[in-house]
Amino acid sequence: MKRIEAEPIFAQSEKLFERVYDYVLERIKRGEWQEHEKLPSVRVLAKELSVNRLTVLKSYQLLKQQQHVYVKDKSGYYVQPGGRMTIDSTHDPVLSAYVQKSHLSEIHQVQAAFQFSIALLDPNLLPNLYFSEYVKKVFDLYPKVLGTYSGTQGDAELREALCDYFSKQHQFYLSRDELMITTGSQQAIDLVAKVLVKPRDAVLLERPTYSPAIDVFSRQGARIIPVEIHPCGYDLEQVERLMQTHKPRLFYMNPTFHNPTGYTVPAEQRKRLVELAEKYHCLLVEDDPYRDIYFEEEPPQPLFSYDTAGCVIYIRSFSKYIAPGLGIACIACRPYYMKALLAAKSLSDSGAPLLNQKIFLHYFFSERMQQHLGKLRTALAIRKEVMEEALSVTDWKWISPTGGFNLWISLPETIPMDHLLAKSIEHSLTFVPGSICDPLREKQSWIRLSYSYMNEQQLRAGISQLVNLSRLYF
Ligand SMILES: Cc1ncc(COP(=O)(O)O)c(C=O)c1O
Repeated sequence: MKRIEAEPIFAQSEKLFERVYDYVLERIKRGEWQEHEKLPSVRVLAKELSVNRLTVLKSYQLLKQQQHVYVKDKSGYYVQPGGRMTIDSTHDPVLSAYVQKSHLSEIHQVQAAFQFSIALLDPNLLPNLYFSEYVKKVFDLYPKVLGTYSGTQGDAELREALCDYFSKQHQFYLSRDELMITTGSQQAIDLVAKVLVKPRDAVLLERPTYSPAIDVFSRQGARIIPVEIHPCGYDLEQVERLMQTHKPRLFYMNPTFHNPTGYTVPAEQRKRLVELAEKYHCLLVEDDPYRDIYFEEEPPQPLFSYDTAGCVIYIRSFSKYIAPGLGIACIACRPYYMKALLAAKSLSDSGAPLLNQKIFLHYFFSERMQQHLGKLRTALAIRKEVMEEALSVTDWKWISPTGGFNLWISLPETIPMDHLLAKSIEHSLTFVPGSICDPLREKQSWIRLSYSYMNEQQLRAGISQLVNLSRLYF
């Protein structure tokens, strides 16, 4: 595989003055700068954002042209009255480019008979029958459960149980104050980004990566710096060079059964990564939603287990395969960061729903659930094999994953991925285009197909349809 030397995309692929324009407009929209209020001088803003004065001047001129600000002679730029209310994102090309969105959820919204885009467990594999017993049990044990908030940090009983679980499974030594329950790991990533990343901070992201992470860190105005992920992990020399050169605030990673590739970073690299993070003061944000879905050996311990300096923030989701409808995940980190995360979370909710947390507590730690996990692994391994067998009639290439939900597939150059996706949607079939998983928005000949959501019969029929489309049209 060809290795591509990583470069920041912020300055390269987008015009810097447009980013400054977005930055200023966002603050006007939020009311941080009020009508008729003077904007910071060109000199001051250029210094604050570490950009050239001409860049700021150009963005102020564009803001003026778009009537968001006006000029007073020899005085400076002021916020245009009414500008805040008249912004119409559907007609303003610059602003509509700024609208915050998840590229992945756009694909998920497409209704289709064959949804290879969904990396979630097939609901038919969930043990509904005995799950309902736990629901009843929870109401018997906590009759006031529906009348109470759990508190921003989450239910203390569940946090205690998770601390115990992590110490047995991964030798994490955590107090319950170092754990926060979130509504899925998506919320956790969003919180971490809001708290830790300011505009123009450098952020390392794997290439490819979990697509919404690109959207979240881009929204923060981060300078995104890609780190190639390979079947055997990262090129640690490259990682060190990037940490040295760009002084990134954090490295968001999904090192275990990585989405979309399925790769796992080996144990030796984990230890070294933690050393590098400590040396270069770069936080590692370890997102770990697929750990339990292994088909062969158990994966290496999380990077968090190697961390003694508090430079890893660990995000563990149980929502992908335990009960997606409960949406339970947690963040583990040292008190300094926890305090800031809690403050931010208190602005977005009063805690994950208590009922969900209590049901999860009794269900997840039950012996039955742990046995069920074994069955899930077998069922998913079979589905993976079925998908691979159905694809074996093609010359498409992939590396068979040893865990997780996805195949990351390289298409022959003769098949334009965008056109294949358009044709597939027309024929009621969806998949994830590789470009949205790429911080550089390239990877035009890669696609992600999930084998977790459909049964064997649907997998065979869906892949046959996809292969036929690729032959018919390309
Ligand atoms: C790597 C990764 N992180 C986070 C998430 C979001 O998970 P959750 O459902 O817990 O929000 C996903 C879901 O696909 C994922 O693959």
